[in-house]
Amino acid sequence: MVISRRTIKNFNKMEFTIRKPSDLHTHVRQGEMLPEIARITAFRFAYIEVMPNTTPSKQTGPEAIAYYNEIRPHTGDTEVIVSIKITPETTEEIVEEAVRLGVKVGKLYFGITTNEAEGARGIEPFYPGLRAMEKYGMILSVHGEAAYDPDGKKIINLRREAAFIPIAEQIIADFPHLKVIFEHITTGAMVNFIVNNSSNRSIAATITDHHLRDDIDSILGFVTASGEGINPHNYRKPIPKFPEDRDALVWAATNGLPCFFYGSDSAPHATETKECCCGKPGVFSAMTRIETLAEVFEKAGKLNKLEGFASIFGPLFYGVSPSRETITLVKEPWQVPVEFNNVTNYRQGEEISWRVKE
Ligand code: NCD
Ligand code: ZN
Repeated sequence: MVISRRTIKNFNKMEFTIRKPSDLHTHVRQGEMLPEIARITAFRFAYIEVMPNTTPSKQTGPEAIAYYNEIRPHTGDTEVIVSIKITPETTEEIVEEAVRLGVKVGKLYFGITTNEAEGARGIEPFYPGLRAMEKYGMILSVHGEAAYDPDGKKIINLRREAAFIPIAEQIIADFPHLKVIFEHITTGAMVNFIVNNSSNRSIAATITDHHLRDDIDSILGFVTASGEGINPHNYRKPIPKFPEDRDALVWAATNGLPCFFYGSDSAPHATETKECCCGKPGVFSAMTRIETLAEVFEKAGKLNKLEGFASIFGPLFYGVSPSRETITLVKEPWQVPVEFNNVTNYRQGEEISWRVKE
């Protein structure tokens, strides 16, 4: 699909218009938190794809549909795409039923993640689920970090994504017709893997706005007026890596390649559960997503590639139509509030140069 020039009207340094973006990896939680988080996450987006890692997680079609029915009343015009979590217990019957009910995505957490007790140690236990997904055309969405090596020894955080690449190679070799999205990628090595394998089959990756902006010092060497220190609000999984990895991600996102599209991985946790020992991973970026992307694409001199990355390639991969509605961004600085409903915002207190026009 060719990006319509018509939608990028008034395309200049002060204002531009793109089709409504889609966020194809996000978390809206459950219980009391859900209504407001779902509302703000959906606001100004065409589609949001919601992860199943609630407590307990959504593992079947009926559970995913019940979750959809809980979320949808809070999202206005925004369509919600739900997913089931793929486990070693996922059977062909489970996948067949989920697909029949309209669930498009199965999520596989290979590493350790929020609400996940133990990381997986091999991919083979998931094969019954993956075989069924390939058969019924369900998209595999995978958190690609290997937390353990084949001997069961823990792998250091910074190397977990690279350690997953041999497993990624195994998945795509053993399931040649499976559609796969590698989620929130963070390394130059993973960018190469996607570029090298996406030309003749449905393989893609999501990239977050915060991984396009940050390296590991956003967590370990966060600079404020009072000096350099730790910022627990920037701690997430996968952790951002080195500047050269970030530059590779920016290259991937800003070059109009349809195999790279946007998923925020906005992952809210109450402020007190991050500002403590053993604080939880997850950046809550829902309030600043498209504005941060505009800054990144502008800095790369590629604002004209933002619409493909944020609004078009993701929906096309999912087989849904990109939005016909638009949003307009204007160059007008604003300050990010510290909190939203007891959750600290990504970029809290910072000034952002782009604003969405009301
Ligand atoms: C996510 C969360 O909090 O649900 N956190 C994160 O740092 N990305 C879990 C996840 O996506 O792994
Ligand atoms: Zn996530």
